[in-house]
Amino acid sequence: MLEDLENVLISQRRIARRTGELGREITEYYGSGEIIVISIINGALLFTADLIRRIEIPIQLDCIRVASYRNETKPDSEPELIYSVDLEVDNRRVLIIDDILDTGRTLYMISQIFVRMNPRSVHTCVLLDKKGRREIPFEADFVGFDIPDQFVVGYGLDFAGRYRNLPCIGTLRPELQNPPDWA
Ligand code: IMP
Ligand code: MG
Repeated sequence: MLEDLENVLISQRRIARRTGELGREITEYYGSGEIIVISIINGALLFTADLIRRIEIPIQLDCIRVASYRNETKPDSEPELIYSVDLEVDNRRVLIIDDILDTGRTLYMISQIFVRMNPRSVHTCVLLDKKGRREIPFEADFVGFDIPDQFVVGYGLDFAGRYRNLPCIGTLRPELQNPPDWA
């Protein structure tokens, strides 16, 4: 799989180090008490699993699923929430975790859904931020890495469902970005 990468943008080591720092930032920010962590799967699965083990206050975890990409390197339409949450959000502090902030549509839409549920607060954390691609003004509260406008895979991020289990984050060789016959 590694041979399918044109370039490794962020190594496994750097991801681990930055995840630890983010865990400390988040722990310090909230101070004490319990928070609700909402993970946007599948993309944020690996990041969430590593990050929550570096958060040193109690959490309750739930996962939601959003469809915003199909088998392409461009978003096709408005994101769509597929599963909703079981946890009681009322007057609780909510931290939403995603893999990457790109156009901003997904996190903006998901944040709005939680804001309407009468929480004490809603914050967002992303591993990657492609600032240059924003279509709506939205910034995350906690960001792992700013990256250039390139399509990346690995550490949870996929191309057509593949490459999520790469331990690092990188760009695919260009000839692989036009899906070969995978069906
Ligand atoms: P947004 O709604 O445009 O901000 O897109 C966020 C979602 O698009 C992320 O949760 C990812 O699933 C997907 N996405 C955006 N950029 C990439 C990328 O470079 N690689 C893989 N998935 C991406
Ligand atoms: Mg995603």
